[in-house]
This record gives sequence, C-alpha cells and structure tokens, in this order.
Amino acid sequence: MGPPDAILGITEAYKRDTNPKKVNLGAGAYRDDQGKPFVLPSVREAERQIVEAKLDKEYAGIVGLTDFTDAAAKLAFGENSEVVKSKRNATVQAISGTGALRVGAEVLSKWFQPNKVIYQPIPTWGNHIPIFKFAGLDVKQYRYYDKNTCGFDEKGCLDDILKIPEKSIILLHACAHNPTGVDPTPEQWAKISDAVKKRNLYVFFDMAYQGFASGDINRDAQAVRYFVENGHNVCLAQSFAKNMGLYGERVGAYTIVCKDPEEASRVMSQVKILIRPMISNPPIHGARIATKILNDPKLRAQWLVDVKGMADRIISMRSQLKDLLKKEGSTRNWNHITDQIGMFCFSGISPEQVDRLAKDYSIYLTRDGRISIAGISSKNVGYLAKSLHEVTK
Ligand SMILES: Cc1ncc(COP(=O)(O)O)c(C=O)c1O
Repeated sequence: MGPPDAILGITEAYKRDTNPKKVNLGAGAYRDDQGKPFVLPSVREAERQIVEAKLDKEYAGIVGLTDFTDAAAKLAFGENSEVVKSKRNATVQAISGTGALRVGAEVLSKWFQPNKVIYQPIPTWGNHIPIFKFAGLDVKQYRYYDKNTCGFDEKGCLDDILKIPEKSIILLHACAHNPTGVDPTPEQWAKISDAVKKRNLYVFFDMAYQGFASGDINRDAQAVRYFVENGHNVCLAQSFAKNMGLYGERVGAYTIVCKDPEEASRVMSQVKILIRPMISNPPIHGARIATKILNDPKLRAQWLVDVKGMADRIISMRSQLKDLLKKEGSTRNWNHITDQIGMFCFSGISPEQVDRLAKDYSIYLTRDGRISIAGISSKNVGYLAKSLHEVTK
C-alpha cells in the first residue's frame, strides 16, 4: 500500500470532522465568499455557445486544437510577442499544468544535454519532484524562501544559481510561487536572469496562476516575457485550471521557444512522437472553452473581470486576516500575509501549531504551514484569526 497524498489526506480529515466551524485551508482550488466552487460567468457563457453550436466530437490532432495553442502562446508571451509573430514557438496542448510539466519533463529527459538535472526552488509544489523524477531527470534544489523574513532569499537564491553546473535545467515559478506566495520583484528577476545566463542554464517556467496572482494577466506574465526578451529560449508550462476555473477540464499548454521557425517545426515533430504514446491526443471540450474566451472580445473582457474578481477576493482576505490578527492582540509580524501573493500564504507557523489548529479548532492545512487563502471567507476569517492567534501566542 502506498502512502496517501498529503493534501488529499487533509481533505479527508476535514470531511470526517463534525465541528460546524471547521475550515479547510488545504485544497488549492478557488472558493467564493460562501465557500463554494466558482464557475466563471465567462466560462458559463462560452460553454453555452459551444453547446449551442452542436460541434462534433472528433479527435483533436496529437498537439491539440491549434486555435487553442495559438491563443495560449499569445496569452503567455503577449499579443505582440516577437516569438509568436515569428512563429518560433513549438506549442502543444496538454492535460492542464501537470500534463504540460510532464510532457516537458519527458522531452528534456530524452533530448536535453549534457546534465539531465533540474534545479527546483526550496520549497516547491510537491508534485514538481515526482513529475521530473518519474520522467528520468535528477532533481536538485536551490534556496528560495527565507524562513526568517517569510520572504524571498535573494542572496541564497543567487549564490546557489551561480553554483549550478553549466547546461543544467532550472525550474522557475512564473508568478504566485506555490507553496510560499513569495515572488521576486522585477529587479530580482533581472538578477536571476543574469545569473541563469552566466551559468548557461535552460529555464523551465511553470505558470499555473497567470492573472490569478495580481488580477492582471500581463503583470503576472512579466517574468516569462522578461526572460524571453533577454534572449533566454525558455520552455513553459501553462495551466488554465486557476485563471479560468477549469480545474477538472484539464486545459493546459506546453511551449518550447526555439531559435527560429525551422527549429520549432523539428522540435514539434519530436514532441509529437512523445505525446502520441502518452495520451494520443488531448481532450477538446475545455480547450474549446478557453479558446472561445481568449478569442472573442466580449467574452475575453468578461473573463478579465472574472479573473480580477477572484484575485481581488484573495487579496482582500489577506488584508482582513492580517488586520484581525492584530485586533486579536497578536504581536507577531504578519506582514508577509499581505506581502505574499496568489492562492497561498506560507504562514510561518510550526507543524505542531498546525496540529493544534486541526485538533483544537478544526482548521486544516498542510504541516508546512501553508494556508490556501481561497478557503477563507468573510464568514470564517474572524474565527481563523482568533484560532491562529491562540496557537501562536
Ligand atoms: C505551481 C503549480 N504548477 C502546476 C500546477 C498544476 O495544476 P493543474 O495540473 O491542475 O493545472 C499547480 C496546481 O496546483 C501548481 O500549483
């Protein structure tokens, strides 16, 4: 018997708890202020139009729907991106962000030379490690998070990057770093870019939260675009789970930025060879929804409002939690709650304090102290602040 998944285990414990005040801060899926899953109005409308059009259910090609991959690349690199205009991107549809990461891992495992090693931040999203290991790459780490400040460890990160053997791979979270919510500033990204260039590293960007972090799709893509403009031919995993709320539809894309269109078509041919025996071809329904939203000006405008609404609710829950902790009398420095960004807050509380929150207050989160802000609502934020203060006194 294998061990249960850490996050799913928390949801199980939460479900078993009979306390009416219980709170689940484990799951990484957006909830509205009533604690309910949220289907974006733009998604509902796109779906209605798709159903009404009575489209067929034929297979997509191996690389998915090309209208979708074109739109996804434009969203990531920018409407006027030189990469997209000159067609030097090899973009394929993938089974959400995880599938995109896995396709990328397989491509690098087969083709990347000479160091089949990917360096990942400490900490990183739990699934990053097995995704790359199971594809046959060695996984090593670089410093990223500073426990003392609950912020970015600029010095540790840059020192470690400068020690990575040349021609290795580095994984970077494009925005809303999971699990810490700590992102480098634009100035720090510039330093990371320089260090990566010095070591001649290959960059793998994971962008699972574009738009969801700040509410602005362009701002959240800044790091990716900066690297590309600075001459890094990166690869990129995109997910539409969070920013379109398409979790179970599994909509994602994987792009390799190449030096020219000719290289892109050779790369594409090899990616196809790897995808065919993995999934044959990807699902169409979710990709149709995303395409419609991205390409129809009216739906796109609605989506931008929808995604900003989600980001704003998260941002507002962060500041309410911080303010209420202060009101409860907490003298700890909780500034990181509002300094961090995206779905998660790395609270800085100990595993023992996490256990106490579960046992005494029926509040569930992962033992690393990660709070999913999406699980907070105006109804439970007061109870959470009070309980958090109790266990951190
Ligand atoms: C950093 C990061 N990458 C990728 C993913 C992939 O998610 P999905 O496969 O649902 O798109 C997630 C989801 O939690 C994530 O946090």
